[in-house]
Amino acid sequence: MKLHQTVAQVVEAAFLQAGLDNDAILLQPAGKPEFGDYQVNGVMGAAKRRKTNPRELAVQVTALLQENTDVIASAEVAGPGFINLRLNAAFLNQHLQAALADEHLGIATVAAPQTIVIDYSSPNLAKEMHVGHLRSTIIGDSLNRVLSYLGHKVIAQNHVGDWGTQFGMLVAYLVEQQKTGDADMALSDLEEFYRNAKVRFDEDAEFADTARDYVVKLQSGDEQVLDLWRHFVASSMQHAEEVYARLGVLLTPDDVIGESFYNDDLQPVVDDLMARGLAVESNGAKVVFLPEFKNKEGEDAAYIIQKADGGYLYSTTDLAAIRHSVEGFKADRLLYVVDARQALHFQQLFTTARKAGYLPANVTAEHIAFGTMMGEDGKPFKTRDGGTVKLMDLLKEAEERATTLVQSKNADLAQDEAVHIGHTVGIGAVKYADLAKSRTSDYIFNWATMLSFEGNTAPYLQYAYTRVQSVLRKAAEQNVLAGDIHVTEAAEQQLALALLQFEDVLTQVADSAYPHHLAAYLYHVATLFSRFYEQCPILKAEPAVMASRLSLATLTGNTLKQGLDLLGIDVLQMM
Ligand code: ARG
Repeated sequence: MKLHQTVAQVVEAAFLQAGLDNDAILLQPAGKPEFGDYQVNGVMGAAKRRKTNPRELAVQVTALLQENTDVIASAEVAGPGFINLRLNAAFLNQHLQAALADEHLGIATVAAPQTIVIDYSSPNLAKEMHVGHLRSTIIGDSLNRVLSYLGHKVIAQNHVGDWGTQFGMLVAYLVEQQKTGDADMALSDLEEFYRNAKVRFDEDAEFADTARDYVVKLQSGDEQVLDLWRHFVASSMQHAEEVYARLGVLLTPDDVIGESFYNDDLQPVVDDLMARGLAVESNGAKVVFLPEFKNKEGEDAAYIIQKADGGYLYSTTDLAAIRHSVEGFKADRLLYVVDARQALHFQQLFTTARKAGYLPANVTAEHIAFGTMMGEDGKPFKTRDGGTVKLMDLLKEAEERATTLVQSKNADLAQDEAVHIGHTVGIGAVKYADLAKSRTSDYIFNWATMLSFEGNTAPYLQYAYTRVQSVLRKAAEQNVLAGDIHVTEAAEQQLALALLQFEDVLTQVADSAYPHHLAAYLYHVATLFSRFYEQCPILKAEPAVMASRLSLATLTGNTLKQGLDLLGIDVLQMM
């Protein structure tokens, strides 16, 4: 349900009745539960504008609020003119009941669904996926899940780097390897493949010439070289698919539209921007100069779209891709989940695309920037000898560590059971540690913290879920049934209130594209459940109370499960 909006409407009506028409009500969840459920801060501003006494005005609004007994249990003036609200228990009960009865947890789908293109993961296929691709892949995936859940049409775009000069070198090396008969072996470690190809390229002038020749052949559509390129790309893509499968992300091969796809659109884009006078020739290159962005010298920063040798750039492909999303997919909103260090590229891209008319005013484009994953030393995460960490290795290590951990907590676990739990907890921990932080900040990657069963971690939340399930299992064994919800105790009331805020939080994530709001919410719910569990006996309560508490526990479990799923994290029945 839209709890915030529902309460806001009640407050707005009271403001209107009190003659405060154009004043913001400034409704927010109460800072402390002792104060109530919500707080209205708008009276002070309204009083100031009218040069009246804020407390008197607050008393007047409060009296009006109290008349709405359907929603409001109590309204009290506090401090210089705040109003603290407590919601009516019957109102909460009714909406909890509705959420419990609904597969979609009482969450409406949006009235006006948008077509939203999310560009995420998007690794360069010349190399193996490394930790740098983790954030884009899981943040994008979570946004995909949340926006889809709310009823939007999401089109995932895996804009893989599968084109460009380095592919000439890679194809040349592939041909060499095929001659020695070890091509498949060589391709099994892409990092090494790339390194070896680069060594050949730097050492051997003839090899380098062949590589350059292949670039030309690729661009002119030579079928034989294209076949080799396809072979390389497919093998690299298969590696990415393995990472996706282990991570459990939604991306499928159908979502891949690589840079190569736009090859034929690049010259038309350059020509069009020249014709519009947006791009000009500068030292032989075609460049867009935008007065909005200055370089260090204070001049308009250059956005190069074609090099002097005729080659195209990242920028050219992204301009073509925008046209494709807007014209082809009829997108209303474009989200690019890409490292914050590419901020200037996206600003120049969006500004150029707006001026060229590729990005009409009714389509929004957002760079969903994220910070860097750091090691304990506060520097970008690396292997001990300073190399890049392969994403696959990181995920395997997470699973191994989690498996050892669950085995240490429960020695009776069968091996396959332990491995399954280890996978779910390990992958969940890596994802959650990332998604729980505000995406724009850098964060320090720490195994001990993310795998802890205490604090704001995946294991804590997954464990909270199993606790709910264990209560429900016991209830089933004892043949007791859940029933009508009647919240009375403070701990129940706070949990109930939080459960009804799920839609508000999802809407916030959808609008802001910051998944950490959802993580914080789930942690809040789990903490409140834990308090409820300690303070309100469930299976020892008298029948009506027990039935109500079982329902509350069920809804908590459903909410945790759904919420974690929207972060791309699985739950377990026991752990
Ligand atoms: N392949 C790029 C990289 O690894 C990311 C691509 C992001 N998407 C885009 N449309 N520019 O940095």
